[in-house]
Amino acid sequence: MLNDNQSGLEIYAKVEDLLGVYEVAPKLYRYYYDTLEDLSFNSLLDIGCGSGHFLKSLKLKFPSKRLYGIDKSRVMVERAKSFGLDVSTKRLHELDGKFDIATAIFDMINYLKQDELESLFRDLRESLMDSGYFLFDINSEFGLSELAVGSFSTEDENRFIAIESDYQEGIYESHFTLFERVGSLYRRSHGVIKQYLYRKEFFQTLDGWKIIEILPIKLYDMGAYDKEIYLMQKIY
Ligand SMILES: C[S@@+](CC[C@H](N)C(=O)[O-])C[C@H]1O[C@@H](n2cnc3c(N)ncnc32)[C@H](O)[C@@H]1O
Repeated sequence: MLNDNQSGLEIYAKVEDLLGVYEVAPKLYRYYYDTLEDLSFNSLLDIGCGSGHFLKSLKLKFPSKRLYGIDKSRVMVERAKSFGLDVSTKRLHELDGKFDIATAIFDMINYLKQDELESLFRDLRESLMDSGYFLFDINSEFGLSELAVGSFSTEDENRFIAIESDYQEGIYESHFTLFERVGSLYRRSHGVIKQYLYRKEFFQTLDGWKIIEILPIKLYDMGAYDKEIYLMQKIY
């Protein structure tokens, strides 16, 4: 049985290239590089690595490091494998070995409900070395409630996608409707992705972790800060 986000994630995987994320991603990556350059590490785990664009860029930037990615979408993982990346659909608790740093880039954290996020932080402690780091971004309330609400549609020769997004009381919900050409017909599918708002207070109370730095950023240059980049450290 698919949960809400799974149906939406499957559609997202099919249309990611139409959504403008590749255009803005390099700006976000640069913030990550700046922090990673200041930390000494040999191994990095990218959680929710998607189709692997960030890992691919890290491979060029940090060629001597061990880089590994996990994502729960099989479509995404197959695509990332086609770039020659070391990735899998394994869950965190199924991983062997430990990493110096973990990353979760481009909204990955907002995709998780509070209980899922709490178990991610719990499981991640097992997959990180002592004093290991977790570097991730989250959407701010402005990013979720102002910037990305409303309707959007786009298409190419074989796909038409319409997205309706709304925000209420800490939950941002996007409804995806996709029409895919199949021969001379179109197949319609529908899915939902929810993103959950998280604030500093949540991360402050996580057992075994401390916040090292929070960097507010304007990825889209549209008024207020739309994201925050967190650097956290496992303390026990
Ligand atoms: C917005 S995408 C970001 C992908 C990638 N980090 C990037 O920068 O392109 C969020 C990704 O998180 C993955 N995801 C969502 N929940 C997950 C979970 N619980 N475990 C692993 N991956 C997850 C989705 O499949 C999707 O690929």
